Amino acid sequence: MTTPATPTETIGAIYQQLSDELAAAGIEEPRLEARMLLSFAADIEQSRIIGYPEDQLAPETIAKLAEIAARRKTGEPIAYITGQKEFWSLNFKVSRETLIPRPDSETLIEAVLGELPDKNASLKLLDLGTGTGCLLLALLSELPNATGLGLDINPEACDIAQVNAEILGLTSRVTIQQGDWMTGLDGEFNIIISNPPYIIESEIAALEPDVNQFEPRLALSGGIDGLAAYRSIAAQCKAHLPPHGLLAVECGMGQVADIKEIFLNNNLMVKSIHQDIANVERCILATV
Ligand SMILES: C[S@@+](CC[C@H](N)C(=O)[O-])C[C@H]1O[C@@H](n2cnc3c(N)ncnc32)[C@H](O)[C@@H]1O
Repeated sequence: MTTPATPTETIGAIYQQLSDELAAAGIEEPRLEARMLLSFAADIEQSRIIGYPEDQLAPETIAKLAEIAARRKTGEPIAYITGQKEFWSLNFKVSRETLIPRPDSETLIEAVLGELPDKNASLKLLDLGTGTGCLLLALLSELPNATGLGLDINPEACDIAQVNAEILGLTSRVTIQQGDWMTGLDGEFNIIISNPPYIIESEIAALEPDVNQFEPRLALSGGIDGLAAYRSIAAQCKAHLPPHGLLAVECGMGQVADIKEIFLNNNLMVKSIHQDIANVERCILATV
């Protein structure tokens, strides 16, 4: 005979208790995050938490929830706990080896798509510092005849990008490989994209703890002035862009003027600058 649910084991009671605990831990949206964690631990839709608060949770679900809630209270981002993050309305697997895809980066996707009059063209794309593969795979999901190469210096990030290509059914059009920007790379690409690491090294410690304590330093550090990767990419990309080829890079807040100068010094022509939803200049398009 199963023991009847005690009131403290119901979804509603646990949801309330977890929301209170997350609020006390300083989490900004405790009820939303409580639903996300509860839905993940119990493998149920979030709507069930609201719709069926009297349902009982299994003891193993409650134990799992306690474990992941403790992790969240230490500041670990929810995406690393659940192992996933939505980007461009697609679901991406993430790990501690990859940057968590940011909504700001959708600015680059919109900017590149806005430059392409024919979405059915057979384009070749190159993504430098692919991480989860979110930029490359989002673009390929919109460009049915395009192919792409995603490079990352971190082999473990490459493994995650490969899994995401498989989950999204894009492996026939994607190659993921380890690489140090374009060193040793052959061939031309119609579009080169990158969201490189761009945080000034000495400023990383001052970032929010969920970023500086959990996200990979390789994905964050842009060297002494935050611009090291742009210099490498600008110097190398001309050999891989045909006439009218497009370079699209994400940039950090306040970096546009410096990146424009780097591009100019490397004979790249800045085509346009794009703002994110917070009106921050977030993406530069350039051409040869
Ligand atoms: C800011 S993250 C961007 C990840 C992903 N493209 C995105 O937008 O979420 C930068 C990525 O560049 C990679 N990276 C850092 N240095 C690199 C290098 N020298 N060559 C290639 N990739 C590099 C990091 O491992 C990381 O995955």
